[in-house]
Amino acid sequence: GFSWTLPDHPKLPKGKPVAVVVLDGWGEANPDEYNCIHVAQTPVMDSLKNGAPEKWKLVKAHGMAVGLPSDDDMGNSEVGHNALGAGRIFAQGAKLVDQALASGKIYEGDGFNYIKESFENGTLHLIGLLSDGGVHSRLDQLQLLLKGASERGAKRIRVHILTDGRDVLDGSSVGFVETLENDLLQLREKGIDARIASGGGRMYVTMDRYENDWDVVKRGWDAQVLGDAPYKFQSALEAVKTLRAEPKANDQYLPPFVIVDDSGSAVGPVLDGDAVVTINFRADRMVMLAKALEYADFDKFDRVRVPKIRYAGMLQYDGELKLPSRYLVSPPEIERTSGEYLVKNGIRTFACSETVKFGHVTFFWNGNRSGYFDETKEEYVEILSDSGITFNVAPKMKALQIAEKARDAILSGKFDQVRVNLPNGDMVGHTGDIEATVVACKAADEAVKIILDAVEQVGGIYLVTADHGNAEDMVKRNKSGKPLLDKSGGIQILTSHTLQPVPVAIGGPGLHPGVKFRTDIQTPGLANVAATVMNLHGFESPADYEPTLIEVADN
Ligand code: 3PG
Ligand code: CO
Repeated sequence: GFSWTLPDHPKLPKGKPVAVVVLDGWGEANPDEYNCIHVAQTPVMDSLKNGAPEKWKLVKAHGMAVGLPSDDDMGNSEVGHNALGAGRIFAQGAKLVDQALASGKIYEGDGFNYIKESFENGTLHLIGLLSDGGVHSRLDQLQLLLKGASERGAKRIRVHILTDGRDVLDGSSVGFVETLENDLLQLREKGIDARIASGGGRMYVTMDRYENDWDVVKRGWDAQVLGDAPYKFQSALEAVKTLRAEPKANDQYLPPFVIVDDSGSAVGPVLDGDAVVTINFRADRMVMLAKALEYADFDKFDRVRVPKIRYAGMLQYDGELKLPSRYLVSPPEIERTSGEYLVKNGIRTFACSETVKFGHVTFFWNGNRSGYFDETKEEYVEILSDSGITFNVAPKMKALQIAEKARDAILSGKFDQVRVNLPNGDMVGHTGDIEATVVACKAADEAVKIILDAVEQVGGIYLVTADHGNAEDMVKRNKSGKPLLDKSGGIQILTSHTLQPVPVAIGGPGLHPGVKFRTDIQTPGLANVAATVMNLHGFESPADYEPTLIEVADN
C-alpha cells in the first residue's frame, strides 16, 4: 500500500542542512546589453556557472516541461514553483481550460450549471486579465467562453477587463480591447446584450497577490461591482486610448474606469441575481477577489454593497481553503509534493520570501495549498514588501532581509531545509527598466552570497536555481535574435518572462564528493529538482517523481 516513508538513499547521508535558493526570473541567455544578469556584477552566480561543470546545468523552465500547452508558452512562477515542489509535470490551468473548452466539458460541469441559473433573469459578468499572455488567462479562452455561454442562454453579458502589459508588450492593451469589442459587437448583432463594463491596469486594479495591498482589490470592486470609478467613458476603446495618452501611462497601471450610458450610469454593476466568473486560471492574483466575492464575513475593505450572486472561478484557486467553492474547471491535483513528503520524513523546513513572492515558496511550492503540513516542523516567514510602488524605484527589494533570515535559520541548527525565493530579477524585470533590473540582479547575487556563506559555516549543501527567465532578456527580438524597434526607432522593451532555460547549481561542504549531475536525462526540467533535493536530504524519491538530476560516483 501507499506509504509516506521515503527509502534511504543508498549512498547519500542524512542530516546535512540544505539551502534551496530560487532566483525569480533568472534565465540563461546570450550575453548582450539587454541581458541584465550579464551586465550586472554577479560574482557569486558567475562562480557557480564557471565552476565544476558537473555541478552546474541548465534545465527547461517553460512550455511542456512545466505542464503548459505548448513550447511557445513562456515559463511563469506558478507552474515553475509547482514543478519544483511537486517533482512531476502536471497539466496546468492553461491546458486544462483549453481541454475543457475544446471538449465542451466546461459546460457540463457543476460550476457552469450553477452560474447558468442566473442567465434567464440576471447578467453574466466575466472579470479577468485581457491578453494572450497565457500566464493568468488567455484571450482565446475568453472568446470561447463568451461564445459558449451565449449559445447556452446568457442574454446579458458584461466583461470587466484588466489590461496587461506585464506578460505581453506594454501598449498591446489597445489591440486586445479592439478584438474584444469586435467580438461583443458580433454578439450584439445576434441579440445578446454584451458589453465591456469596466477596466483598469492589472497591477493597480484587482490583481494584487498574497494580501500585499487590499486597496488594489478595492479599486476593482468599486468599478466592477459598484460601478464606481474616477474615470468614466462611453467605450472601453476610448478609455484605454485616452488613459494611455497620459504621460508615463502603462498598461499594467491604468487607473480604474467604468463604462457609462448616455445618462452617465454605469452599464454593468454587479446586481442581485447576477452570475460572476473570474476568468483567470492562475491562482495567486485571483484569490483576494475570490474572497471578496465569496465570503460572507469579510473585513479587508468596505464592500459597501454585497450583491447576492452566483460566483464561479475559472478554476478553484486554493485547494486548502476550497476557494472559490464553485469553479468551471477542476485544477490540477497536485498532491504528494516534496514538501509534504520531506516534512513527514522528519525534515524541519524553513521557507521565506517577501510578500510579493511569499506564496511562491509556500503556496505554489506545496501544490497551490495554503498553510503548513505540520506546524511543529515548519516555519514560513514573510518579509513585508514595499507596497504602492513599482519595484524599479527600489530594485534591491527585500533581498538582503530574506538572505539574513535564511542565514539565521541555517545557523540556528533548527532546520534541515531552508528555502527562499529572491524576487528581484523578476519583479524589477517586469517594470521594463533596464538600469534598475541590473541593480536588482546584483542585489539578488549578494543575497545568494550571504546564504552560501552560511551553508559553508555549517557544513551544509546548497541547490541554487530559478523558476523561469526574465531579467536575462529585456528586449523583444525577431526570429534571428535581433532587437525589434518600435515606430519611433526605440527598442521594444520586453517586460514579460522568456522561454530561456534556468540554471541549477549544487555544492557546499556537505555535498558528498562523488555527487555530479547526470548526463543521461534527455530534457531535464524544473520537475527534476524535487527528486534531487530529496537525495540531498539522504532520501530516494518516490517512483513516480521525475528522475533526480544527480548521480553518485563511488570514490
Ligand atoms: C505576475 O503575476 O506578476 C506575472 O504575470 C507573472 O510573474 P510571476 O509568474 O513571476 O509571478
Ligand atoms: Co514574473
